[in-house]
Amino acid sequence: MRAGLLEWSTVEAFRAAGVAHRLDRHGMVHDGMELRHDGAAFRLAFSELTGVPMVVYGQQEIVKDLIGARLESQGEIHFGVTDVRICQVGVDGSLVQCTLDGIPVEISCEFLAGCDGHHGVSRAAIPAQRRSSHQWAYPFAWLGVLAKAPPLSPELIYAVTDRGFALQSMRSPDVSRLYLQVPPNEPIHLRSDEEIWHELDLRLTGGTGKLPTGTITERVLVGLRAHVEEHMQYRTLFLLGDAAHIVPPSAAKGLNMAVADARLLAEGLDHWYRSGRRDLLDGYQSHSLRRAWHGQEFSEFMTSLLHVSPGESAAQRRMRRARLDLLRRSSTAATAFAEQYVGLSRP
Ligand code: PHB
Repeated sequence: MRAGLLEWSTVEAFRAAGVAHRLDRHGMVHDGMELRHDGAAFRLAFSELTGVPMVVYGQQEIVKDLIGARLESQGEIHFGVTDVRICQVGVDGSLVQCTLDGIPVEISCEFLAGCDGHHGVSRAAIPAQRRSSHQWAYPFAWLGVLAKAPPLSPELIYAVTDRGFALQSMRSPDVSRLYLQVPPNEPIHLRSDEEIWHELDLRLTGGTGKLPTGTITERVLVGLRAHVEEHMQYRTLFLLGDAAHIVPPSAAKGLNMAVADARLLAEGLDHWYRSGRRDLLDGYQSHSLRRAWHGQEFSEFMTSLLHVSPGESAAQRRMRRARLDLLRRSSTAATAFAEQYVGLSRP
């Protein structure tokens, strides 16, 4: 169960692709969010500030919708594919080998879209001398739970406390998605369900007991890390989404950045097949990379704004509070933040 917060441009991309029927019906439109710190709360009305809302819709639901659309259009789709190997990446085409239903298969193609994540084969298929990357990790993790409990509030709540960060999100009007900042190597079952609810209530409501509780149906531990591949394109191979860049989940940008990559590559391929011109395809990397760094920068900004770092000094803590305070006091600062949060200011 991964982040399910869609930017408006992501929703529009699904609409344009004709796969938004269920999203339009079940997606929960959000016009604002709440930031809580030092016992105070303020609402950041991003729809009002930027003209676009965000939509909460689970990633698994998107995967279902995409698979459904592919099957409906009689498109080819294979499950249980193993031993995937990219044997050749040429200037005119690429070659992939894999095992399909127990049978070794070779697939030759004009272009390869590497959408197979950080641990996939695509990233590794770019020759080492052509690769360079940047990566770093944050000294904390998120313990995420899915619970049969109505959310405390219909809007997301980002709570910054001296005990650490907490986030209230949701998947439906009676299913909450909640996160706690925890030490990076905390065993996932260290805390009992009661302890988790208690800590969430402390951080989200100041311990008033107002947080609705219920059965926890799922737990995940999410490490916070960042990665950017500087080469997202090699001959006829293109890297998209997590294969090219990982962001910490603080701003929920991962899926949205992946969809933006897919859209850009699709435009490039469409242009190539219609006009025989490669200019859009050739520009894929410079555009995507610039955008990836914008996403990375905002994710870094939100991560440092929301979390307490181990060993943080009192001065650093005070400065974080001043940064939060600025968002409340200055509509210019709030608007700049909102534009980045909804993804409008990314190139
Ligand atoms: C989520 O709903 O899982 C979610 C929402 C907002 C975030 C991260 C995760 O910033």
